[in-house]
Formats: sequence, C-alpha cells, structure tokens
Amino acid sequence: PKTENQLLVIFGASGDLTARKLVPALYKLYKDDHLPEHFVVLGVARSFMTDEQFRNRVALESKYLDDSEAFIEAFSEKLFYEDLHKKYDVSYRELNERIQNLNTVYQCNNNFIFYLSTPPSLFEAIAKNLTAEGLNDERLGWKRLIVEKPFGYSLDTAKALNEGLHRYFKESQIYRIDHYLGKETVQNILVTRFANSVFEPLWNRDYIDHIEITNAESGGVESRGGYYDKSGALRDMFQSHLLQLVALIVMEPPLSADPEEIRNEKLKALKSLRMMTDPEVLERDTIRGQYLSSMIDGERVNGYREEEDVDPDSITETYAAVKFFVDNWRWADVPFYVRTAKRMPTKVTEVVIHFKSPHHQIFKNSNINKDNKLIIRIQPDEGILLKFGVKVPGQGFKVERGNLDFYYSGLGDSHIMEAYERLLLDAMQGDATLYARADEVEAAWRFTDPILNYWKSPKAKVYGYSAGVWGPEHANELIEGTHEWRNPGRN
Ligand code: BG6
Repeated sequence: PKTENQLLVIFGASGDLTARKLVPALYKLYKDDHLPEHFVVLGVARSFMTDEQFRNRVALESKYLDDSEAFIEAFSEKLFYEDLHKKYDVSYRELNERIQNLNTVYQCNNNFIFYLSTPPSLFEAIAKNLTAEGLNDERLGWKRLIVEKPFGYSLDTAKALNEGLHRYFKESQIYRIDHYLGKETVQNILVTRFANSVFEPLWNRDYIDHIEITNAESGGVESRGGYYDKSGALRDMFQSHLLQLVALIVMEPPLSADPEEIRNEKLKALKSLRMMTDPEVLERDTIRGQYLSSMIDGERVNGYREEEDVDPDSITETYAAVKFFVDNWRWADVPFYVRTAKRMPTKVTEVVIHFKSPHHQIFKNSNINKDNKLIIRIQPDEGILLKFGVKVPGQGFKVERGNLDFYYSGLGDSHIMEAYERLLLDAMQGDATLYARADEVEAAWRFTDPILNYWKSPKAKVYGYSAGVWGPEHANELIEGTHEWRNPGRN
C-alpha cells in the first residue's frame, strides 16, 4: 500500500511516549524508507518550547547514533512544535494556522493524523476543538485520529468516550492503539491458525483441554504509581492487551484478511466470553494479589504499597488471574486461564494451548506428562514451540518429551518491526486491522466490569506475594486437576 503525503500532529508531545516510542518509531520508518516524500510532525503540548528545543527533547537514543549526522539532521528537520498556552481547550485557531502553514509549505495534501497521547479525559475536548476548526473535514484530504490507552476505566466510561469521539469523528477515522496488536508474534497467531491446515482442525473443544496465557513482568510499577494505583493489573493489561490475545485465539476464521472481517470475528469472540456475575464464581475463579517488599539478589525492593504515589492502604492488584469459559460451539467447557502481574521472576508473555491426552494410552510405563502443548511465545525469544512425545532410544517404549521449535531469531536478518512502527505505518496507510474498534473495546469492558465490581467489595481478598515468585500461592488452586500453571522458562 502507498503511504500518502501527510502531517502527523501529536498531542501530549512533551510526554514520555513521544520521546521513548513515537519519535524512534518514526525515525526507523524514515530509515527504512517507509515515510512518504512529504511528511512532517507537529508536536503539541501545553509547555512552551521552540522547534529546536522540541527536537532536542526527543533527540534519538544513542543506538541510532551510528547513522550519519546529516541523515539524523534531515529527519529531525521534519519535527516541529506548537504550544497550547497551558490548556488543551483553547488556542486552536493558532494551532490550525500552524497546521495550514506546514501543510502548504511541506505539501502534505491536507492529509492529517491527530495522535492523542494525552489523558483520555481530554480526548473529547480535543476532538471538539479540532472539529470547530474544520480539522475533521475530509472533503480535502483525509483526517484520522489515533487515541492511546487507557480507553476508559469501565464499560460506562468507555462508552462515554466512544460517544464523545463519535460526535466529531466517524468510527472509520478513529484508531485505538493496543500496542500488543502491533507485535509480530501476536499477528502471527492469525497466520498460524489460518495459513496452515495442521492446527485449525484441532483448534476446538474436541482436542484442546485448556488454554493458558501468562503475562509476566519482572519490574514493579516504577514511576507510574499514580496512574497504576487507579488502574491495577486488570484494567492495565487484561481488559486490553490480554483480551485482544484471547480474541485472536478464540475467533472463528474470518472470510478474508479484510480489517472489518477480522474485527467482526474478534467482536463475536469477545461477546462469547461467559460473563462472571455470580459472587461464588467470582470468588473461586478470580484471584488478585499485590507484591510485598522482598529481597531480590540481596537487595530489598519496595512492596507495592510503599511505591511512590501509591496509597499505603491500596488494594489495587499487581497480580490478576482469571479462569473463564467461552460459550460457543467451538469452545464449550474449555477453561481459559489468564494471568498478568508485575514483579514476577522474569519478563515473559506466552500462550499455551494444552491438548488433551490421547484417549487410549498404550505406553503404560512412561511417567512423563505426554500431553501435547503448543506454546506461542509472544516475548521474548519470539517463536512457537510444539511439545510432543518421542521414543527414548533403546529397548521397550519409553516416551520422552520432544520439541519442535521455531524462533524468529532463526530467520536471520529478518527485522521485527517494533509495535509502534508497525501501528503508525498502518494508520498512515489507513489500515485499521491492528486497531481496536469501538464495539470490541466495549465488549472487553463488559466482560471485565463484573470482576472489577466484585473486587471492590471488602469480601474479595488481596493476596500478598513476594517479588520474584510466580504470584500468590493461592493462585495454584485456580487450575484444578492434574494441571498446573506452566511457569515459563526457555523449555
Ligand atoms: C502497557 C501497560 O500497556 O503495557 C504497562 O500500561 C505494561 O503497565 C506494558 O508494562 C507492557 O508492555 P510490553 O510490550 O512491555 O509487554
């Protein structure tokens, strides 16, 4: 697809995301020759800065400094800055003049993307002010709006956000970022399932025993205590990134790879998650925890309640595990176990498809668990691993676990695009496949809300866990039978 000439306006440009993710992603796109001939960025925020100061503020990290100075300079000349006089709801006239001026000088063909990297409470006001200046009008050139997470705080707030944005922009103009969808390995779930004939026939309740998703981070909340304490693991990771993963695993084959076809199937998948409303079920099948102050490698790390900007009596979860079912023909009775947490032993995200045991065992004296597993490693060591039984050489039939594996790193010089690179380029080309649609986001909130509501009640326990372990011990009871959590290592 062609990337047309355009102007990218970033609101909240003095923030961390612009310097850490957006500008490096744009630079990489520039370096790989993906930017159109005429392209400029206008950073917008409240504080006063000159273009030069803005360029210095977002100056590239040292990893790019091998590139020639002239090359980096040519990129940095595409960056401009305009302040909003301390407020996000005034002075759009001047902003518009600046936009029109850059548009004319740099021949951006009236194609504008507005990237809202601001708190969501400002989304509607910004959309309204842009509209008042005619900046949503697509008669001359297209106009797109990218919004960052968090998209809402609950179903009601997400709906209100959607309604607010829809007052000024059409759904087809709105791109909701979920950076997990920008990950190569997440997109590869679609390819694994729908470009092969060996997996899909087994991808159902007849062959799959249960599905497990683990998202672990070794770090704590770091400097984001203020945001995190009002959010918690369920809002921060589960409602968005992890339910997007669930949707890709659960969905039916789409008719084609067309964005709307894929998003329609994801929506159906999210709608088929069984709502958890019974307090007994919620008590049994959801677990939350908080990391405690502990020693890691001989050093004491803060407990969650001691972190900066966190309420010392906080009950916000840094660990969340949920067991749930999907009420449709394909998945009836297959449990899904999804957990996410900070301060785990390692940083890893993986999906494990646990297949059922062969229904008749003929190799009796093998004591290993021979169940087949398909492990989709989202990060790090991106790849796919199939575990299957192999014969141990020698007399008799002793069975051992063998691995069939594929690692992206084995593709040699293949460059895995960073999530933000891929997502920005897609939005620049008008491809919304990897962006969450309004109805998908609402469906994900509809499922998450009852858990959050249950967790508000004093009855719902918060379990402590030491930093560097796989969460509260109690979480082991969530997976019943002979199974247990797979705590990911390399194998
Ligand atoms: C963000 C969350 O959306 O995703 C963070 O707000 C989390 O709390 C991050 O750390 C994880 O992203 P990744 O790509 O490092 O797995």
